[in-house]
Amino acid sequence: MSQPTHRPIRSFVRREGRLTTGQQRALDELYPLYGIDWTAASGLLDISALFARPAPLVLDIGFGDGEALAEIAVAHPERNYMGVEVYRAGTGRLLRRIEADGITNLKVLLADASELLRQGVPSASLAGLQLFFPDPWPKKRHHKRRMVQAPWLATVADRLQPGGFLHMATDWAEYAEWMLELTDAEPRLHNSHGGYAPDPGDRPGTRFERRGVRKGHDVFDLILQRHTPST
Ligand SMILES: C[S@@+](CC[C@H](N)C(=O)[O-])C[C@H]1O[C@@H](n2cnc3c(N)ncnc32)[C@H](O)[C@@H]1O
Repeated sequence: MSQPTHRPIRSFVRREGRLTTGQQRALDELYPLYGIDWTAASGLLDISALFARPAPLVLDIGFGDGEALAEIAVAHPERNYMGVEVYRAGTGRLLRRIEADGITNLKVLLADASELLRQGVPSASLAGLQLFFPDPWPKKRHHKRRMVQAPWLATVADRLQPGGFLHMATDWAEYAEWMLELTDAEPRLHNSHGGYAPDPGDRPGTRFERRGVRKGHDVFDLILQRHTPST
């Protein structure tokens, strides 16, 4: 008799067809230069070996086509950035941008971000984590697919250094409330705004944000800090 298979709940559905020759070439030629080789079997990343120069590391989850992430990395040369995506065409696009603009403080990782966070990112290793416009999974029966869940936030809190930040943004009001409730319940995360951040800080506009705004959606930013031992 066959055993029941236990499939993990994923926050994404792979809909991508074949890549164009150019997209495939970007992955083949540029991933070895600006990508990070990691699978769940690789275990914990050696953070100190990822970049030529040590600097506070910020993880960006689900960068899409990477336009906003590239802009952020250029605006913050004092930090290193690691972007994780499952969307190969977008990853190829960001790899091309890194090459064309000579960006040295940004690397990409093609993997499931939830797996990476759980199995690849060491405790207290991140200066920050960005989650901009995650898929909202609006139907109630799909809420379990949302990236932001209580266990995910507990893992985030563990991976952040004391004082490290979590910056999330969404244009889906009900997901914003969900994020607010769950972050309020995570004792290691502190919300100095007591609610939504009054402005997006230095977050540039993203493609998905523009799409939401065109549909008349409001945008919500949530910026939290991992407690320091004294707070
Ligand atoms: C709505 S898009 C937002 C893209 C970008 N942050 C922006 O604001 O333009 C969400 C992205 O998250 C990615 N994603 C969803 N689940 C993911 C996961 N578990 N690991 C990595 N990427 C994921 C999707 O492939 C998609 O590109």
